[in-house]
Amino acid sequence: MDIHPRESSRAEAESTPRWRQRMEQIDSQVDVIRLPDVDGDAPDQDREFCELITLDGEKKTVRFHDYDEVYKVPGFYEGLFYELLQCSSPSRVAALLDDVLEDFEDSSEELRVLDVGAGNGIVGDEFLARGVERIVGVDIIPEARQAADRDRPDVYDDYVVTDLTNLPERHEESLRKQNFNCLATVAALGFGDIPPKAFLKALDLLVTPSWLAFNIKETFLETGSDGTGFSDLVKHLNRDGVIQIQAYRRYCHRVNVAGEPLHYVAVVARKLRDIPDELMEFWSQRGEE
Ligand SMILES: C[S@@+](CC[C@H](N)C(=O)[O-])C[C@H]1O[C@@H](n2cnc3c(N)ncnc32)[C@H](O)[C@@H]1O
Repeated sequence: MDIHPRESSRAEAESTPRWRQRMEQIDSQVDVIRLPDVDGDAPDQDREFCELITLDGEKKTVRFHDYDEVYKVPGFYEGLFYELLQCSSPSRVAALLDDVLEDFEDSSEELRVLDVGAGNGIVGDEFLARGVERIVGVDIIPEARQAADRDRPDVYDDYVVTDLTNLPERHEESLRKQNFNCLATVAALGFGDIPPKAFLKALDLLVTPSWLAFNIKETFLETGSDGTGFSDLVKHLNRDGVIQIQAYRRYCHRVNVAGEPLHYVAVVARKLRDIPDELMEFWSQRGEE
């Protein structure tokens, strides 16, 4: 299947997804994205790849999860995951948070958002559209910040390239000072991306009370079939009253290379108390096993 993102129709209405409106401003360097023919079972999500041909004629095979490679080419991330594979997660997660905020009579304009696994800023852009007070991106690779600066320079008040599993003191100090009251993490948990220990550290950086809005592959929250630890972590946080889940919705995050739906859950929760030291210690040790 070929796709030519430059030929996609212009944003026409208010309902046009935010990422597509933004594509009008991105100088896409993508000519063709070609998915492999799938004969039999689709490959594991972590092993999916495609062929990219850029406008200057360069041709290469890129594994989807090699984000450094993906972000380097303007328009590639959007063309692959959003246009071709119909990813809907940033708007889904943000809309679920909207619903809950409405019930609580809270305003998104008072949110100070920490966007973890921020990538090139598509999630940040959803929050920008909601008029949040402040939004700061965190990602582990410099290519993500470079892509956000290049493609969505107006989104973040700050963008920190750091590792939350081993957060340097200077980053911890500067992040804590910002009194974040909302953690967003979309399409970034599991798969060798953000591990439970890093998610917990992000949660710890928030004031109490705060909001959490995240998504995760549904099997990563199922007891027994989860190798990532997130199912245990979320249960642990709930049981100890650190978080209270307010909304939980299963939906199609995107399709895979064979066109089959990949189901994720969007979760909105409230951080109700500071994370006890024993819990931090437990997950810190477990993360090193
Ligand atoms: C699929 S992208 C999602 C980007 C963005 N949230 C979105 O929905 O478009 C996953 C991002 O998580 C980042 N990531 C992976 N491990 C991370 C970690 N330990 N800490 C922070 N970011 C991480 C990757 O570099 C990548 O940019």
